[in-house]
Amino acid sequence: MKMKMCSGWRSFLFVLPLIFFLPHLLSVMELHQNTSVHEPQKKLQKKFDHLVLGPAAGQGLSNRLQCQGTKALNRTRTSNSMSHLEDNIALVTVFTIYNSSLSNVEDRSSNTVVGDLTYNKVERSMAVLNVFINFIQVTMPRSSVIILTDPVSDLSLHRNRVFIYPVQGEYSRDKLMLQRIRSYITFLETKHQELSQRPGNITHYIFTDSDIAVVDDLGQVFRDHPNFHLALTFRNNKAQPLNSGFIAVRGTVDAILRAKVFLQEVLKIYSSKYMSASRMLGDQLALAWVVKSHPSFDASRFAKAQAFSEDIGGTSVLFLPCAIYNWTPPEGAGQFHGMPLDVKVVHFKGSRKRLMLESWNFYNSSPNIEDMLCLILGSGRTKYDF
Ligand SMILES: *[C@@H]1O[C@H](CO)[C@@H](O)[C@H](O)[C@H]1NC(C)=O
Ligand SMILES: *[C@@H]1O[C@H](CO)[C@@H](O)[C@H](O)[C@H]1NC(C)=O
Ligand SMILES: *[C@@H]1O[C@H](CO)[C@@H](O)[C@H](O)[C@H]1NC(C)=O
Ligand SMILES: *[C@@H]1O[C@H](CO)[C@@H](O)[C@H](O)[C@H]1NC(C)=O
Repeated sequence: MKMKMCSGWRSFLFVLPLIFFLPHLLSVMELHQNTSVHEPQKKLQKKFDHLVLGPAAGQGLSNRLQCQGTKALNRTRTSNSMSHLEDNIALVTVFTIYNSSLSNVEDRSSNTVVGDLTYNKVERSMAVLNVFINFIQVTMPRSSVIILTDPVSDLSLHRNRVFIYPVQGEYSRDKLMLQRIRSYITFLETKHQELSQRPGNITHYIFTDSDIAVVDDLGQVFRDHPNFHLALTFRNNKAQPLNSGFIAVRGTVDAILRAKVFLQEVLKIYSSKYMSASRMLGDQLALAWVVKSHPSFDASRFAKAQAFSEDIGGTSVLFLPCAIYNWTPPEGAGQFHGMPLDVKVVHFKGSRKRLMLESWNFYNSSPNIEDMLCLILGSGRTKYDF
């Protein structure tokens, strides 16, 4: 799926990243608003096939992670000790493999090496999906992962607490973002029916892109904010304040229904106003439209990276700052104030998928999340070949 970026707090320079599931699609989709007209060379900017560690941003700022190389000077993760009171949580992502990618898996020239492993295009996107799952299983060991996918796509993924959930639809690249919302709606509809018929344990759902690393327990969102139906991430960007890459839905019958109604409204606006943007940004433009068109909504609240709630047409929406729930460094020269100490989700937008895999390898050999965050902070501006 796609992603937009939630980047350093005031980067106006780049407006759009994307998430994805298909490997090669990524580079094609990457748009830089500020792509220079005068310097076509910039488009050919080198993409690295190995980790490049630069200076870590935000050094000297008291509320930002401090690093010496890949050694973190702050230890900030909370231990997941609340096991008894926790509700179930499922991370839900849309992921599919295009059969056009399957046709050239034999083409060795497009193979990529990360650590000891060589990946073809399909293996590359599966590796990203597997690392997405790995991080969730480390930081939220009791949660499950649900993968919404095209029924024709055979993911051959067999992992504990991971469930494949086929949803009929149109998964062509052009329609992917539209299909993603439709799949979310279908999923919520089914869960709503199941829950109305057989009330059982509550499971909260968090819909995300699959090129993210969950680096802290997200269950705290539901505990700290007990009343919202649906949560979205926002950033200080006038044109695109909302990101569709992280949508949390409380697992009660009422919240699931309201979240579904809210997304149906977003889908309606998407289909009627933003179809020309369907491939890239339509969903976040439609989200912003639905939220901002609500008469009492005060968009100036997006300027401050602090969570707040608002009733939008009967749905209680919690707005969470991208800086913590969808952190991505800006590429290039955008202002960049480092990484908040309490970052919970890192988004490897655009050409950072290699960094996602390398981060997992790093963590795997030396299991310390903060040190790994220093690696990400120092490498996050580099464009990779993945
Ligand atoms: C973006 O555009 C502005 C104005 O043309 C220019 O000054 C700036 O250097 C550009 N930034 C990048 C990263 O190309
Ligand atoms: C983070 O580490 C730096 C360097 O040791 C220290 O000065 C700063 O107070 C720490 N910040 C927090 C919030 O603990
Ligand atoms: C790819 O998928 C399309 C649509 O499902 C199907 O019509 C086509 O036969 C498939 N091609 C291959 C090579 O599997
Ligand atoms: C609810 O959760 C408890 C504890 O995890 C489990 O024993 C029980 O079977 C669950 N009930 C349902 C209906 O899923």
